[in-house]
Amino acid sequence: MRGEAAPAPDVAIASAREAARTAPTLEALRELMQSFEGCALKHTATRLVFADGNPQARIMFVGEAPGRDEDIEGLPFVGRSGKLLDLMIGAIGLNRTTAYITNVIPWRPPGNRTPTPQETQICLPFIQRHIELANPDLLVTLGNPSTQTLLSTREGIMRTRGRWFDYDTGQRTIRALPTFHPAYLLRSPSYKRLAWQDLRTIAKVLAG
Ligand code: URA
Repeated sequence: MRGEAAPAPDVAIASAREAARTAPTLEALRELMQSFEGCALKHTATRLVFADGNPQARIMFVGEAPGRDEDIEGLPFVGRSGKLLDLMIGAIGLNRTTAYITNVIPWRPPGNRTPTPQETQICLPFIQRHIELANPDLLVTLGNPSTQTLLSTREGIMRTRGRWFDYDTGQRTIRALPTFHPAYLLRSPSYKRLAWQDLRTIAKVLAG
């Protein structure tokens, strides 16, 4: 390792927790994350990818981690899978003025590799606080990593998708629905039919 040693993971997790807890607003949280030094991904990424869309929206979508296009633009879901996400939410009348979008991991892992469990644990207090502060009525986890991390389940997306979970922010319980990640749907388009079912479930709740 070059330069200063990264803090030990348990130290980094504790300092992320402490930092996230003290952020009173989303803007404060963003600034805190900008200056957080406990996650090595920050140093290989170009920039922080905090969120896009409307933080007042009733619905919040959470993916896994930024890819190349997101790292360049500093916004989540702007590449190929983002285009599909826009189409998916557009099919139920949503767009980035009526939805809020972010990821569990706010920095692009090098070469788009899978984030390590340690990196995920370090970033977890930030996304938890992010959800608590945005306080949506409905949380949609996109794909397995986001679902398993946020909804504390070990079941795979084939079993969890379309099923309601409770997400406890510490302040209140939010209804959460896992569905397929758009990148997965690009690779396996036959699952779009099931994703459409999930979108209709979401639309019904938002209309109700
Ligand atoms: N995949 C994700 O999980 N998030 C993004 O922002 C882009 C691709």
